[in-house]
Amino acid sequence: MAAVGLAVLHIISMATLKFAVLPGDGIGPEVMDAALGVLKAACKKHGDELDYTVAAVGGAGIDKFGKALPDCTLEACKKADAILFGSVGGPKWEKLPPAEQPERAALLPLRKAFKLFANIRPGLLYADIAGASPLKSERIPNGIDIVCIRELTGGIYFGEKKTWTQPDGEIAACDVMQYRTSEICRIAEVAAKTAMARGKKVCSIDKANVLETSVLWRKTVTEFFAKNYPEISLSHMYVDNAAMQLARDPNQFDVFFTENMFGDILSDEMAVICGSLGMLCSASIGDIKNSIGQKFGLYEPAGGSAPDIAGTNKANPCAQILSAALMLRHSFGRDETAREIEAAVRKTVCGGVRTADIAFGGESVGTLEMAKAVEANL
Ligand code: IPM
Ligand code: MN
Repeated sequence: MAAVGLAVLHIISMATLKFAVLPGDGIGPEVMDAALGVLKAACKKHGDELDYTVAAVGGAGIDKFGKALPDCTLEACKKADAILFGSVGGPKWEKLPPAEQPERAALLPLRKAFKLFANIRPGLLYADIAGASPLKSERIPNGIDIVCIRELTGGIYFGEKKTWTQPDGEIAACDVMQYRTSEICRIAEVAAKTAMARGKKVCSIDKANVLETSVLWRKTVTEFFAKNYPEISLSHMYVDNAAMQLARDPNQFDVFFTENMFGDILSDEMAVICGSLGMLCSASIGDIKNSIGQKFGLYEPAGGSAPDIAGTNKANPCAQILSAALMLRHSFGRDETAREIEAAVRKTVCGGVRTADIAFGGESVGTLEMAKAVEANL
C-alpha cells in the first residue's frame, strides 16, 4: 500500500453492505469490534457480506489529523451507504475550545453534511432488567418501550449565532431558533411512519405557550396529521410537562417527537430512565438515498466514550450491536436480520448473560464474551 498517512483502511471487500466504521475514542473501538462480529454473523446467515471502511473520528481524528472530522473520514463516509459510529470524546481533548472538541466538531458537521434531520432513539428497557432504571419498579412493571424522535438539523443548534458588545459596553450573545414548515412536516412524517409500525399514537412536544417557533410547530403538526395520518392519535404537550411525565410514567408515551434542543434534553432524560446507557442505540437519518436506494444514515450508541473503563473489556456492547441492527433496517432494508439481532440481544440479557452495568452486582461477563453470547443466540 503506497498511501502515506492514510486514515482509511479497506478491511473486507466482497459485496453488498457497504458502510463506514468510525470507532472513535474510549470504549468506541472495543464495542465496535464486538458489534462487527455479531453483525457479520447475522448477515452471513442471509448471504450478505460486509464491506466496510474504518476511519478516524473524534479525539482519534484530532490526534492523527488535527481535526475531529478529518477530510479523509468525510470522504470515506460519502462513499459508503451508511455510517456505523462508535463514541467520541475524553479528558484528553476537554481543554480544546468547545467548537473543536470531539463531540461537537465530529457530530454536528456529519449531521449537516448528510442532512440527517431525524434522530430516532428507541427507549427500550426489558422487564427483566427493570431494576437498572432509577424509576421505582412498580412504575414500570413491564419495562419501558417508547421512541423519541428528535429534529436534528434545525432550530437553535443551526440558527444564526453571535456575540457582540452593546453600546453601553456590556457583552451580549444570541442563538436564533428558527423553523420552517417543511422542516416541521418532514420530522412529523418520520414520527408518523414510526407510529404506524407501532401503536399509532404520537405526542408532539413544544413550548407553544411561549415560543413563536412552537406555535408554528403545533399548527403545522396538527394540520399535517389531520391531512395525512387521521388514523394516528395525536396529542401535544409542553416540554416542561413532558420532562415531568417522562419521569412519572414513561409508558404513557408511545412515539414522541420534538425540535432539536428539546429533543437533546428529553432524549437524555429518556436514556437515564431506561437504565443503562450501554443498552441504548440511535439512528440519525434524512432523505438522502444511498447507492441501493435506501436511506443514508448514521447509527450510534446513546452512551458516551466512557474513558474510565476504556480498554478493560468491561463495556456493554449491546448499544453498539443494536445500532448496527438499526443500520440494517433503515439503510439496507434488512429488517429481518435486524429483528434477529434485536431478539438475540434480548434473549442474551434476559437469559442472564450481562455486563457489569446491568448485572446488579451479580455475575458479569466482559465485552467480548457478551458479544459472543449474542452471536450464539442469533
Ligand atoms: C447528542 C450530543 C450532541 C448534541 C453534542 C455532542 C453536540 O449531546 O448527540 O445528543 O447536543 O446534539
Ligand atoms: Mn445530547
